[in-house]
Amino acid sequence: MSSEFTIRRFRLSDMDRILQIERAIFPRDAYDRNLFAEYFHTCGDLFLVLVRRGNICGYMLTCIRPRPEIVSIAVQPSERRKGAARLLLESTIRRLRRHPVDRLNLMVRVKNRAARKFYVKYGFVKIRVVRQYYDDGTDGFLMSKNL
Ligand SMILES: CC(C)(COP(=O)(O)OP(=O)(O)OC[C@H]1O[C@@H](n2cnc3c(N)ncnc32)[C@H](O)[C@@H]1OP(=O)(O)O)[C@@H](O)C(=O)NCCC(=O)NCCS
Repeated sequence: MSSEFTIRRFRLSDMDRILQIERAIFPRDAYDRNLFAEYFHTCGDLFLVLVRRGNICGYMLTCIRPRPEIVSIAVQPSERRKGAARLLLESTIRRLRRHPVDRLNLMVRVKNRAARKFYVKYGFVKIRVVRQYYDDGTDGFLMSKNL
């Protein structure tokens, strides 16, 4: 299944589709056009899109500065549990090897069981709870993986 997916760098012409996916998946706290554009300029080669049969169906955004961290990852619901997020993560880690980076961090909502399971499966460990990390007052886990 996963071989049907390809991964490439984000282009500005992908923006409308990425916004559509973002608003559908994160209705309460979707990133907006300006924020994605800023990330594109600061984290360019680590802003990846997932493509299946010519359609973008997910993305992953990672930044190295100010510290190496996964900013966001999302796969549209119809394409989940097919290994797509794994491919995005593997591609990101391969690209990170070009940089002097030995650790990758992320924040995940404590309530986001699917994402937590995904990260644990691929070697991230829980560092600590960050109380009320999110705008709606919910807690997050800081997680980290040695590269
Ligand atoms: C988290 C997310 C990116 C995973 O994407 P995905 O393409 O379905 O993940 P994969 O198919 O690569 O999953 C790999 C493994 O992660 C774990 N996993 C993924 N989704 C899971 C779920 N819903 N429940 C339990 N485990 C899950 C499993 O171990 C899975 O392996 P398996 O299918 O062999 O059991 C996807 O669910 C998503 O987009 N969620 C909404 C956005 C989000 O929460 N992003 C994270 C913000 S921090």
